[in-house]
Amino acid sequence: KRTVVFISGGGSNMMALVQAAKSADYPAEIVGVISDKADAGGLAKAAAEGIATFAFVRKDYASKDEHEAAILAALDELAPDIICLAGYMRLLSSAFIQRHEGRIINIHPSLLPLFPGLHTHQRAIDAGMRIAGCTVHFVTEGMDEGPAIGQAAVPVLAGDTAESLAGRVLTIEHQLYPQALRLFAEGKVKMEGGKAVGATAS
Ligand code: GRF
Repeated sequence: KRTVVFISGGGSNMMALVQAAKSADYPAEIVGVISDKADAGGLAKAAAEGIATFAFVRKDYASKDEHEAAILAALDELAPDIICLAGYMRLLSSAFIQRHEGRIINIHPSLLPLFPGLHTHQRAIDAGMRIAGCTVHFVTEGMDEGPAIGQAAVPVLAGDTAESLAGRVLTIEHQLYPQALRLFAEGKVKMEGGKAVGATAS
């Protein structure tokens, strides 16, 4: 399955997907990496892997619509079966999501539906959580609301800071996301009637 990954930063999740896709039996091929930041560290990492990279900087466009239109035109060329958001820090419009309905997945650094949005690790610590983790989910029009494909958890340890917890969660993100993409690319999980139907990634 042709897969395009969207990033805004270092792209460690994108690289975990790139690494996984190197296995002969992996059902997805990363055919492009798109960023909204020209200086996203992940772009250089993807280029070093020989993957086509594209930066669409928001301030270069008069409106969100024109920004998305440029991205959609690149996607029409890349013709992805799957779009993976991986540390992509921009909300996609309803029109964009409808255009690619059921083909977009995302990784979020919390056990959704707990802690949608930002600063998830600090919020988990402040709430006294004893576990934290990450969720791979289908992208729907609401932020971080789509049905989950898989989740992975870690303990919250005494003395944890947002940084120490983020590091522990990021490690399992890099294991969960390739598993979730594998299941999705193999057709073992899909979104039907707003629900994830099929296998669970862990
Ligand atoms: C990760 O915590 C991911 O869950 C969130 O963005 C952070 C950075 O991701 N969406 P990456 O290193 O750019 O993949």
